[in-house]
Order: sequence, then C-alpha cells, then structure tokens
Amino acid sequence: MKGADVETHNSRDARHLLREAFRGWYHAERLGTPLSGLFLFELMKGGNEQSVRSRSNGFLMMLVDQLRESDPESAELLLAHYVDRESTPSMMQRFGLSADELRRKQSQALGRVSEIYGALEQSHLVKFQNRLDHLLPQYVDEEPIGIEKSVQKVENLLISEMGNNVVALWGMGGIGKTTLAVSAIRRAMASGYFSEVAWVSAKQSVLELDGRIRSLDRPALSSRDCLMALVDQLLDFDFIGGISSQDAEIALREKLQERRHLIVIDNLETLYDVQGLMPILRISHPGRILITSRERYDAVNFIHHYSVAELDEAASIRLLRRTASQDEVEQVIQADDATLRIAYQKIGGNPLALRLFVGQALHSDLQKLVHDLERGESNITQTLYRFIFERAWQSLGEETQQVFMSMVFTSAAGDRASDVMATTGLPREMVMVGLDNLVRQNLVDVKRRSGVAVYTIHSLTRAFLEAKALGR
Ligand SMILES: Nc1ncnc2c1ncn2[C@@H]1O[C@H](COP(=O)(O)OP(=O)(O)OP(=O)(O)O)[C@@H](O)[C@H]1O
Ligand SMILES: [Mg+2]
Repeated sequence: MKGADVETHNSRDARHLLREAFRGWYHAERLGTPLSGLFLFELMKGGNEQSVRSRSNGFLMMLVDQLRESDPESAELLLAHYVDRESTPSMMQRFGLSADELRRKQSQALGRVSEIYGALEQSHLVKFQNRLDHLLPQYVDEEPIGIEKSVQKVENLLISEMGNNVVALWGMGGIGKTTLAVSAIRRAMASGYFSEVAWVSAKQSVLELDGRIRSLDRPALSSRDCLMALVDQLLDFDFIGGISSQDAEIALREKLQERRHLIVIDNLETLYDVQGLMPILRISHPGRILITSRERYDAVNFIHHYSVAELDEAASIRLLRRTASQDEVEQVIQADDATLRIAYQKIGGNPLALRLFVGQALHSDLQKLVHDLERGESNITQTLYRFIFERAWQSLGEETQQVFMSMVFTSAAGDRASDVMATTGLPREMVMVGLDNLVRQNLVDVKRRSGVAVYTIHSLTRAFLEAKALGR
C-alpha cells in the first residue's frame, strides 16, 4: 500500500519503534526520534515548539499511563527499566522475580504497550473513515470497476515524498475523476500517511440515470467559498463568517505546515475565479492537494496532471452488467456480449455515459437504443451534451467553436493540424489557437505520432458535434 520512497509506520512496526524510543529516553537530544513517521505520533504532534525528545518521551508516558490502568505491574517495570534506569538485581529484588522472569515480563510489558498503541491507532483510523464517509460525495461508486491500477498510481502520487504538492486528475465529464479521487484518498488515509483530510466540492450538479440534472447542496462557487470551507473543516474557529480572506489564508498556511494534510478540491474548473485559489495551491507544505477538473492548468508549473483514462471494453461491459443488475434492467441483464460490445464501441468507456445507457434501457427497447446509437440519434448524446459539453461550449470563443465544429470531419485515427486547415480552409493561426484551447479543455485529444501532433476526438464528442451540426 505504501510507495517505495515513503517512510510511514503503523501498528505493525510499533513494537520495535516503541522499544527504540524507550531506549533513547535518557539520551541527549538526537537528530530525531524513532517515533517520527509513526501515525499517532505525527497526528499528536500539534504546532508546539517542544523538543523532539520531550515530545517522544511525552508520547511514551501517555502510553504507559494508559497501560497502568489495566496492568500496573507492567507499567512499573517499563518505567523502572527505561526511565529510572534501575539495575537488574535491584528490580529482581523489588518485584520478587528471577532474572528470566524479569526479562519475560519486560518483554510482555512492551508487547502490552504496543497493543495499546495499536488499539489507539485503530480507533483513530475508524474516526477518519467516519469523517470521510461524512465528507465524500454520495453519488460515487464505492466499488469501482477496472481502475485498480489508476488508484494505485494516484495513491503513490499522494503518498510519495517526491513530486509536486498538487496533483490534478483531469478528464472529460463523467470519466470517473471523482470516483478515482475517492478510491485513492480512502487508500491513502488508511495507510496512515496523512494526519488530516478535507474535501471541498465545487461541483454544482449531478446527472441522474434518468437523465435529470440535479443541483447539489452548498457547492463552493468562488475561491473564497473554497478557502472558507477548508478553514471550517480544518481549523477550530467559532465564527468564520467575519474572517478576511487574508487572515483565513494565513491561518490555513500555518495549519498546513504542522503535519501532513490531504486536501481535495473536486471540480476546480467550476469555480468562477480559479485564479483566486492559486495562492492556496502554491503554499509549500508536507501534505498534498488533490484536484479534479475537466480542464488542464498547463500554465501552472506546480501542478502535476494525471489524465483519467476511459474504461477498456471488458470493464465497460462489466459496468453495464453490474449497473443493470443493481437497477434491475432485465433487457441489459439478458443481453448477449455482442450487443453490449456494439454499445461500448459507440459510447466508449465513459462510465457516466455507460450508466445513462442502462438507465435508458429501463424504458426503451434495447435493440432500438443500440440502433439509434449506431445512427447517431441517441438521447444519451443529447443528455450528456447538456451535462458535459454545453458549459464548455459556451465558454469557447466563436473562433474556437468553429475549429471545434470542423473536428467532425476528422478521421477516427486522427488528423494533423494541417489536415484540419486543409479541410476547413480556416487560417493557420486560428486553427492552432483553437486546437490548443480545445486540448486544454479536454474536448480534443492530442497524440504525437513520429513527432507530429495528431488530433482526435472521443466518440461522444463526435456524436455531440454531429448533433450540433444538425441543429438537434
Ligand atoms: N470505475 C467505475 N466503476 C463504476 N462506476 C463508475 C466508475 N467510474 C465512474 N463511475 C460512475 O460514473 C459516474 C461518473 O463518475 P464521476 O462522477 O467520478 O465522474 P467525473 O469525471 O468526476 O465527472 P464530472 O466531471 O462531472 O465531475 C458516477 O455515477 C460514478 O459512480
Ligand atoms: Mg467529479
């Protein structure tokens, strides 16, 4: 679960680390403590200025105090040996034990104290899980299909000491950015690498399976909303309404330095003033900020972009079948693989689109739906069009819209910019700027083939453009 270059520890290593820390009780201040990196030790660090040794000793004392409640003799043995440095003969006499018994009891005491540590860590992790359950959006699939490798990669980006502070999961609407984010942060939090988590959503609406667009409660609409939501989740302010953005930023900055935080900002692209959030994203701190966005932020050099890929054919068909059995859509449950494969070929591996397809099969004939897809007359594209593309379309300048429309003529294998110019007769500058904008907004894909940029569009995008061209 842990990345190769990460040093985090949890209860599995606790016994060894605690013993090392006990041994170091009286040593002069060293560079560190064996406890650093141990989940609860990091969590309880706080912002105080105590020396490493007194923090380490304080932590051990807290555990010994807990041990004393259930097993006073073990607690005394640990204190006598490690803290008071009492000699073995004196301890043997005081506790009435032989040398062997003493050694055994001491080892047992160490075992008990690490058990106490383990139980404490476990209860904190459960608390985290509950907090996460409360924070995370309800509409994502908790058992996603076909994304195991991506989850692993994103988790590694989050819990690695190297790399950028800010990781952006980007891709078209419905491709599964939020789902991937949720899976990756659940894993990252369970590994004990982060001490705190916050989740802010800027998403304003979700698309239901029946094609209705439902508004979500309390989205963060501006960068200030976002900042205040973070302050609200991470800091104990009684009344945040009156705080200036500047003070909130200072308080957050300090908080982020204390220990490793994982902050998620979902659908960053929907904030109307993304630039206002850049100072927050730029803060240097030991944690990570995970963003999901339909847009790329190429101009921002401290963001690491991770492109969320569509599902492959096998995963897409599994998703169709599982959604169908959850929603009891008999036609899809009964359908043969060949029919579902045609649907996949037309829809592609966009989970939202695949789920919509199953939703439509609840009320319409499956063969007709597939037929409509083949002819480019499906409702799915229109519904998705409203949800995924309309906002993006409106935000494009007129010239970029023209370049976008011209992508209808590209071949499935993709065209070079010069092909686009030749087919449309549009001026070079306009095509280049337009393609650049479209790639940034994830409406057009670009690949390099023998050093030349080749532009392609997703099958959903093509269906959308065709519908737009026909005035549907
Ligand atoms: N791998 C998957 N397995 C099963 N369902 C998935 C998977 N990925 C996404 N979904 C489902 O597809 C829908 C869209 O996914 P999600 O909301 O994560 O997309 P998104 O990229 O965040 O979209 P948007 O840009 O609108 O925020 C959700 O209902 C989600 O539960
Ligand atoms: Mg999302």
